[in-house]
Amino acid sequence: MNYYVLTLFPEMIQQAAGASILGRAAKNGFITVEAVNIRDFSANKHMRVDDYPYGGGAGMVMEAEPVYRAVRAVEEKAGRTMRVVYLTPQGRVLNQTMVEEFAREEALVLLCGHYEGIDERVLEEVVTDYVSIGDYVLTGGELGAMVMIDAISRFVPGVLSNEESSQFESLQDNLLEYPHYTRPEIWHDRQVPPVLLSGDHKKIEEWRHQKSLERTKSRRPDLFRRSYRVSCIWHGDER
Ligand code: ADE
Repeated sequence: MNYYVLTLFPEMIQQAAGASILGRAAKNGFITVEAVNIRDFSANKHMRVDDYPYGGGAGMVMEAEPVYRAVRAVEEKAGRTMRVVYLTPQGRVLNQTMVEEFAREEALVLLCGHYEGIDERVLEEVVTDYVSIGDYVLTGGELGAMVMIDAISRFVPGVLSNEESSQFESLQDNLLEYPHYTRPEIWHDRQVPPVLLSGDHKKIEEWRHQKSLERTKSRRPDLFRRSYRVSCIWHGDER
């Protein structure tokens, strides 16, 4: 997977994408993350990329032309057109299904806005997907872009080891994961649930599934209702 992140703050992306599992994935050639500085495509001798909003109001607006040039330059370099995702609180809220769908692409452009936003006309011309990472407002799209890169890359073959791919399966079947324990057996007077020490794999499996259900029901009732409905349809129940 090749990501092209269009941003005014490339160092934010370079830092975050260079560490941990993503850093290893890039080093091993499973992903590339290119941070493209929109300022390099300024049409202005002072490298300005923003201007006052027509109609007045607070804040600045990112100009259409530098964003347009940056997108076209990236497409030219890649030798293909790509989906262009604009990170914005006005987008569809990202979920695991969307992540898996984006992971089927070979390359993605992630466009990060700043200030009050980007001139609407270039968005109309280049953006294919509007994505939000949650119902809150960030200072820019960079953290959203990193969230997408992280979540999508988990589905790129080679990025996770076998052991890593069986971890963090929290949203498998819309259920949260069961709790985990490691040594020591007693910590701060808290005992590891005895069933986990029993060696009875069937019982352990059942206990974990039960904990998954309880945890989802109490922490994410919205997910629980969804998985309950799916399970009823699956088993042919008329509930
Ligand atoms: N930019 C600002 N807020 C955002 C959000 N919630 N999601 C994605 N991009 C954003």
